Amino acid sequence: MKIGTPLSESATRVMLLGAGELGKEVIIALQRYGVEVIAVDRYENAPGHQVAHKAVVVDMTDPKALRSVIEKYSPHYIVPEIEAIATDVLAVVDDEGVSTVIPTAKAVQLTMNREGIRTLAAEELGLPTSPYAFASSLDEVREAITGDIGFPCLIKPVMSSSGKGQSLLKSETDIDGAWSYAQEGGRVSGSRVIIEGFVDFDYEITLLTVRSIGKGGEVETSFCNPIGHRQESGDYVESWQPMAMSEQALANAQLIAEKVTTALGGQGIFGVELFVKDDDVWFSEVSPRPHDTGLVTLITQKQNEFELHARALLGLPVDTSQTLEGASAVIYGGMDGKAISYAGLADALMESDTEIRLFGKPEAFERRRMGVAVASGDDTDLARQKAALAASKIKPTLS
Ligand SMILES: Nc1ncnc2c1ncn2[C@@H]1O[C@H](COP(=O)(O)OP(=O)(O)O)[C@@H](O)[C@H]1O
Ligand SMILES: [Mg+2]
Repeated sequence: MKIGTPLSESATRVMLLGAGELGKEVIIALQRYGVEVIAVDRYENAPGHQVAHKAVVVDMTDPKALRSVIEKYSPHYIVPEIEAIATDVLAVVDDEGVSTVIPTAKAVQLTMNREGIRTLAAEELGLPTSPYAFASSLDEVREAITGDIGFPCLIKPVMSSSGKGQSLLKSETDIDGAWSYAQEGGRVSGSRVIIEGFVDFDYEITLLTVRSIGKGGEVETSFCNPIGHRQESGDYVESWQPMAMSEQALANAQLIAEKVTTALGGQGIFGVELFVKDDDVWFSEVSPRPHDTGLVTLITQKQNEFELHARALLGLPVDTSQTLEGASAVIYGGMDGKAISYAGLADALMESDTEIRLFGKPEAFERRRMGVAVASGDDTDLARQKAALAASKIKPTLS
């Protein structure tokens, strides 16, 4: 394994497809190894654009445009950071040996659609999941609910993320509204939906799972400590590590994560989302890339999830050990506006063992994630308080 000199003929080139806050940190990690990074996003001055060698704006759902940008830069590795990508193009360039898709083109294809990953997990791998069905019409939705699934249940567009188009249904009267909401919230219109039985879990976790090259030159699987998190309307608001779990639940969680990541293959980090009740664990979904709840590892681990992804994809050894107990709390825009400013930073950082990351997004929305506060502490409860307090001290303003 060799790394060349950036911006020269020997350069090792990595192209990020999606250059948001998670991509930005992956880029920083790659830059530290002298990798040449091309950051692609659909809008100008995305967070990752600001720290990459080259910044490209392109509609990644347009197969032609995506293909031509890959040909122009001929990256050795393509690292998808988002789901809304013309993934057929990735399969082709990977097949042709032009670029290696991280972790694999198949993983990226399967996970961009809830139908692909759910079918793999539940039907091929036999992993425990919520009861589910897919539907393309209101009639099919009704049939599925009155058939096996019942209430409460959730309806989600098969292609969506961050809780978009997702509703919790308690009774018959919620069906029509949930269906139209899913149609509006899906990435493509006329979208198919998944109906999932509600899992009455005690807590949910992200189990960051890394596939990297081990001592013997073979791919091996390693796990970070489980991350607990709290979601509001399908979007993460705070996370902490470690999440205290019974030994049996952790063993079940690791077995599920190992199975699903092995099936997806390749090298890199995966965020495996799991529901836990007592010792029972259900598979929910998986991202074949760093996970937003894993922002907490910026403060808790020897190598954070972004460094782990960078190392794993380059074929370097990884260390998933945790050094501190900690938490993260999201900083929202709190308003709609361009080129906003942030006050209160000094105040927030007055607290020891606290850090703030501002992502530098050119435009804020009320509920857009603009930054994150991370804190370590004697235990995760204290760390959560510190992170939440620090986040609350950051005051977005309109100039
Ligand atoms: N079947 C379910 N039962 C209970 N809660 C669920 C279920 N599916 C989703 N949720 C809740 O909604 C959140 C978002 O759902 P998820 O499927 O992860 O969507 P997204 O892809 O938008 O992250 C989950 O983290 C969990 O809190
Ligand atoms: Mg999720």
